[in-house]
Amino acid sequence: MMRQAGRYLPEYRATREQAGSFLDLCFNPKLAAEVTFQPIRRFGFDAAILFSDILVVPHALGQTVSFAAGEGPRLAPRVDRDNVGRFSGSFDQAKLAAVFEAVRLIRAGLPAETTFLGFCGAPWTVATYMVAGEGTSDQGPARSLAYRDPETMQRLIDGLVDASIAYLIEQFRAGVDAVQVFDTWAGILPPAEFDRWVIAPTARIVAGVRAAVPDAKIIAFPRGAGTQLERFIDKVPVNAVGLDWTMDLTFARERIQSRVAVQGNLDPLLLVAGGDALDRGVDAVMEAFRDGPFIFNLGHGITPEAPIANVERMLARVRGG
Ligand code: CP3
Repeated sequence: MMRQAGRYLPEYRATREQAGSFLDLCFNPKLAAEVTFQPIRRFGFDAAILFSDILVVPHALGQTVSFAAGEGPRLAPRVDRDNVGRFSGSFDQAKLAAVFEAVRLIRAGLPAETTFLGFCGAPWTVATYMVAGEGTSDQGPARSLAYRDPETMQRLIDGLVDASIAYLIEQFRAGVDAVQVFDTWAGILPPAEFDRWVIAPTARIVAGVRAAVPDAKIIAFPRGAGTQLERFIDKVPVNAVGLDWTMDLTFARERIQSRVAVQGNLDPLLLVAGGDALDRGVDAVMEAFRDGPFIFNLGHGITPEAPIANVERMLARVRGG
């Protein structure tokens, strides 16, 4: 599941309390490893995902990152034309030493048959937070900057491409089996901008990582890409793509899964609803993708409100069918 270690689990909430802030938890290798293991212990998932956050990269680029309780992330100062040089060329990987230590602890503690995923945010999505300084509903600040001053956006994206390549290579060296690149805000861009800010940077990351780790397995998740996903896989040679829950299943089977493995795409709110709606949602996804390369997953992160009984119900149905 996306965000499989999270607030819907009582054991996560207990560890989180012990850690202090959310970032304290991300940078505490023992506790980050512990919360990574929790959903594996409870549900026996086939894959574990490193517990961290995409916004540790802006932290290593020099921004001050914090998570205000109940409010989401805050980054300061906001990146603009005057300061972009300070936040695009100074990736200090030593600031992420605790993440690599967590990767080593997780690798050592995971069952051998459990796949271990590392990750980073895609440059566009990370840039949206670096420019706005917070989460917004439509990423207006980053879209406006990209139209008004594409040179500044390009400098920021280029810095993020380089940082992401180095960061993912180091995760492989520390022990992950595969990585996922999260582009949560890909779908808000029109085609020309999608090509420039989503496709091109992600293609450079894939090439850069594979130059150091030739057989690197990479999953991309350009959320909201819709039919643009076809152009995405034309240009970005990933091993799998994550599908969000709005994706048309027939289009995905015929145009995407015929060429590359797919992952997804149950609406996370079906885990809150439960009952027949959940069963029908699971069946639709399983039915659409069962004959090709496929990883069952949610179409975005699990919500804190999801009852654990509904997660169990979903798993029983997926494993039974
Ligand atoms: O999937 C996992 O279990 C691995 C851990 C993981 C987290 N964030 C933990 C987290 C991963 C892969 C992410 C990725 C991430 N972080 C993305 C891309 C994927 C997506 O979900 O869209 C984005 C956009 C972020 C940035 C981020 N982190 C935001 C906007 C927020 C606040 C929103 C919220 O739900 O509170 C976070 C916080 C965050 N990251 C939490 C978790 C478990 C909740 C924080 C808490 O425990 O209080």
